[in-house]
Amino acid sequence: MEHAASRGGFSGKMGFILAAAGSAVGLGNLWRFPYLAEQYGGGIFLLVYLILVIVCGVSLMITELAIGRRTGKSCIDAFLDLGERNKYVGWFIALIPIIILPYYCVIGGWVTKYFVEYAIGAGSDLASGSYFNDFMSASMGGVFDSPLTWFLIYALLTILVVAFSVEKGVERVSKFMMPALLILLVGMCVYMLTLPGIMDGLGFYLVPNFDDFSMKTVLGAMGQLFYSLSLAMGIMITYGSYMRKHVNIERSSQTICLMDTSVAFLSGLMIVPAVVIFSDVGLSSGPGLMFNTMPLVFDSMPAGHIIGAAFFLLAMFAALTSSISLAETVVSIFKDRWKWKRLIACGACFAIMICLGVLSVFGYGPLSGIQPLGMAFLDFFDFITNSVMMPISALAICLIVGYIIKPRFIIEEIEAEGNRFQMARIYPVMVKVVCPIFMAVVLVTGLLSYFGIYSI
Ligand code: PHE
Repeated sequence: MEHAASRGGFSGKMGFILAAAGSAVGLGNLWRFPYLAEQYGGGIFLLVYLILVIVCGVSLMITELAIGRRTGKSCIDAFLDLGERNKYVGWFIALIPIIILPYYCVIGGWVTKYFVEYAIGAGSDLASGSYFNDFMSASMGGVFDSPLTWFLIYALLTILVVAFSVEKGVERVSKFMMPALLILLVGMCVYMLTLPGIMDGLGFYLVPNFDDFSMKTVLGAMGQLFYSLSLAMGIMITYGSYMRKHVNIERSSQTICLMDTSVAFLSGLMIVPAVVIFSDVGLSSGPGLMFNTMPLVFDSMPAGHIIGAAFFLLAMFAALTSSISLAETVVSIFKDRWKWKRLIACGACFAIMICLGVLSVFGYGPLSGIQPLGMAFLDFFDFITNSVMMPISALAICLIVGYIIKPRFIIEEIEAEGNRFQMARIYPVMVKVVCPIFMAVVLVTGLLSYFGIYSI
């Protein structure tokens, strides 16, 4: 996404959708969605999430893509274009990928480590139950047993791709990897359905239990929505700026949301019921869920180590396309704002990745004594971006579009070149009333109930 002079870089509808889906589908779907679903009551979380995708997700994606295409600029400059007063919003939004990227690479490192273990035939060691915790707390000695090493390898991989502009190559490979991931996920879900005792787990994941409903669930689901769809952090604005005029923004947004949500649903189906099946092992939930559960599943199946290697390789690719898009955004902020050369901007981005990433790596080990807001560093960065900054940024985007630049600005862009905007009638209501009220209520009550001040 280098050539600002020739914006309109995506060759057509499919090229654009694949690139945006590459950014959207990643660890958010495979790692984050299942652990949140397990943590926040299974079926009720799934239901709330699906409602949020339909009510807020599609409208927000349409809005961001249209802002990007209409202004032809990336986040900070796009907001400057919409009025000097909005400049701080652009800066606030730009901060989000800067905080997410480092800890994303930490988890990317865990995936890389797991892939390598399976690839060298040591996969069955991972199914020991305590493996992940030992690994995270870096208590296993050797260089290649330390999560720091794997974080550095993954972070370096990400930044090298961006520094040497070989994203196109990665995109070409991921064109095959994405469908392969989807097929593997479906296959794994079918396998899971054959396991004895699956029914209880399935019920937990698919049937909402309204007793488990709380505003914390909605806050969690809303943060996940932004994270998974790469919304509320300026990324889709940048993608929109490269989109050709004839491409239908509404239809593309619906397709991306559908693809992303399907992958999240399937990984939930693969992981969440397994927690019930393997409950005798005493799986710990939370961020380690995928890394604790999947080795047990692979261990239980024929040729599990090969399938395990394939799964973690595909997960690594899905993660890479996302972390590349995050790094790309951070680098372009430095380049556009301060006119830094690409390599210098990449160097600065890498320095930030290392500083914040090291905190996240050691937050579960040597630094576990320091707990901002009572959380380990990685959970803290995740919480502060997803549950606080992103709802605020999405709210600001809706208010700016709804009341300052007005919904017409977006509608005209979507209807460019004779495209039909089916939601044209309800869009202004969504962006002016429904989304902002929803987000403000969820943000305030969610935070209050998170900290135990008030709960519904
Ligand atoms: N959406 C990506 C995922 O689900 C994460 C991501 C967030 C990527 C923000 C880019 C920007 O993993």
